Amino acid sequence: MKKTVLVAGGTGYIGSHTAVELIQKGYNVVIADSLENSEITVLDGIEKITGVKPQFEELDLSERESCLGLFKKYSNIDAVIHFAAYKAVGESVDFPLKYYRNNLNSLMNILEGMKLVGTNNLVFSSSCTVYGQPDLLPVTEKTDIQEANSPYGNTKQISEEIIRDFLNVNKNQKAIALRYFNPIGAHASALIGELPIGVPNNLVPFITQTVAGLRQELSVFGDDYNTPDGSAVRDYIHVVDLAKAHVVAIDRMLEDKNKAQLEYFNLGTGNGVSVLECIESFEKVTGLKVPHKIVGRRAGDIEQIWANTSYANDELGWKAELGIDDCMLSAWNWEKNIRNIK
Ligand code: UD1
Repeated sequence: MKKTVLVAGGTGYIGSHTAVELIQKGYNVVIADSLENSEITVLDGIEKITGVKPQFEELDLSERESCLGLFKKYSNIDAVIHFAAYKAVGESVDFPLKYYRNNLNSLMNILEGMKLVGTNNLVFSSSCTVYGQPDLLPVTEKTDIQEANSPYGNTKQISEEIIRDFLNVNKNQKAIALRYFNPIGAHASALIGELPIGVPNNLVPFITQTVAGLRQELSVFGDDYNTPDGSAVRDYIHVVDLAKAHVVAIDRMLEDKNKAQLEYFNLGTGNGVSVLECIESFEKVTGLKVPHKIVGRRAGDIEQIWANTSYANDELGWKAELGIDDCMLSAWNWEKNIRNIK
């Protein structure tokens, strides 16, 4: 019989790509999302790609009664992937309580719901932000967790602690926390992708919207970092590679291959790419210019980070396959599709 996975936040950017990969791997998918930061039409994209329209529940998981009601309704769920969280770093500085309330309550409600119905497997969306600016690169899963530099980052750190403490007294439960580096790109079909609301905060949607004519020019935040070309360096991972890692994590839990009750994995490519290299890659694969200017550093940005992915490669048998050029081309194809650009 098909196993069922609840994808909390499944109409969002990473959630929707993961739903596709799960369905294609033969899982039955139930999506729960408040639609506060995503569109219901994402379900059509998932259906067009997979031929399956996932079951969908619109609800706010940070509301306890609604969340518990969901678990009572779908008591046959085998595993949960929890993506449903706010993720804008700057906004979290301005509205910390909004972030703590949403990101922590939804996690606690999900854990309570899982316990209520005996669902024992959780995959949690964590972030490389838990490492801050590490002294030594690349970062491994053993790199020290530093004090968070934003309330958003703090919600990821606290969430990992909540899961640890919950598992400590619920020995049947297992969890895998996936620490993402910078997810970018879109599905090769261009039927799903990132849909930022308002002015994008993140680099790649800002690039694609600028080239599509929605923004005048991209500001490159700083060219005086201690990096090869002076711009900041990140580990950009294609969202489809990231989505596939979730399926591997779910398989691992449902096949009881976990070595420990709680595991952490870095999900990146292992390569650092600068902001200027991102622009160069975009221009190379699309043949289009990205209007940009260098401005001062953005408050709160770290200089450089990239992942040591050995643990995920060896333990999960997973490796990112797509590079920065694939990311940029797929992101542009998606932007063209939603803007009707030929
Ligand atoms: C941040 C978070 C990360 C979160 C991600 C998605 C931290 C340390 N990182 O990543 O956890 O998952 O957002 O929300 O909290 N840039 C420009 N111009 C722009 C936009 C960005 O030059 O208009 C530069 C930034 O300075 C940075 C790089 O591009 O060097 C990537 O920025 P961004 O896409 O916003 O992601 P992060 O800040 O790295």
